[in-house]
Amino acid sequence: MGSYDKPDFWAQKAQKEAYPARSVYKLKEMDEKFGLFRPPGGRRVLDLGAAPGSWSLYALRKNPAPALTAVDLSPLSRDFDKGLFEGGNFGFLQGDMTDPGIREAIRARGPFDLVMSDAAPATSGNRSLDSLRSLALAETALDYGEQFLCKGGALILKIFQGGQSAGLLKRIQRDFESAKAFKPRACRSNSFETYFVGMKFKAAVLPKDA
Ligand SMILES: C[S@@+](CC[C@H](N)C(=O)[O-])C[C@H]1O[C@@H](n2cnc3c(N)ncnc32)[C@H](O)[C@@H]1O
Repeated sequence: MGSYDKPDFWAQKAQKEAYPARSVYKLKEMDEKFGLFRPPGGRRVLDLGAAPGSWSLYALRKNPAPALTAVDLSPLSRDFDKGLFEGGNFGFLQGDMTDPGIREAIRARGPFDLVMSDAAPATSGNRSLDSLRSLALAETALDYGEQFLCKGGALILKIFQGGQSAGLLKRIQRDFESAKAFKPRACRSNSFETYFVGMKFKAAVLPKDA
C-alpha cells in the first residue's frame, strides 16, 4: 500500500495544514491540474456543500483571496479559519441548496467565475439510491452554473459514478469548451465518487431569471 492510500494519510495532512477535512486535497489537485482560480475564473466563487469548510478555506487562503459564497445544510467548522470566515469577502448561507429561498440569496451574490460543488447526500448504503440523490445535487449545481456563471467561468461538481451521470457530462460538454471526469488521488480508493470539471463556460444558456 503506497503512503497516499493509507486511510489516514490525507486526514493527517489536513490536520497538520489546519484544514477541517481531507477533501481539501481533492480541490487542490483539481486546482493544480486545471487552474481553477486563475483568471478569468476564480475571482467570485460559489462553494456548494461547503461544510465543514476546507474548500472555502483553501480559496480564502489563496493570494489574492476570491470573493466567496458558501452554502451548506450544516454550519462551518470555526476551528481553523482564524477569522477568514468573518471577512468582508466571505458569505455563508446555511440551508438547502435546492431551496428557492437559498437560490434567491445565491442569485443576489452572483454572478460567479467558479461554481464548485462537493455536496453529497448522507449515504444510506444503497448505492442506487445514493447515486440518485447525488445526481440530484449535481444537477442543481449545474443549474447554478448555467444560470449564474460568467462567460469563461469554470465548474466542478462531485458525482457518484453510475446512475444517469453520463447525461450530466453531456450537458457540461454542451455548455463548456472543455468537460472532463476526473478522480483526484485523495478520493478513497473504495469510493465511487468522481468529479466533473467544465472549463470556459460558453455563455449564459438560460435567461438569468429562469
Ligand atoms: C463531503 S461534504 C463537503 C466537504 C467540503 N467540501 C469541505 O472541504 O469541507 C458534503 C456536504 O454536502 C452537504 N449537503 C448535502 N446535501 C446538501 C443540500 N441539499 N444543500 C446544501 N448542502 C448539502 C452536506 O451537509 C455536507 O456538509
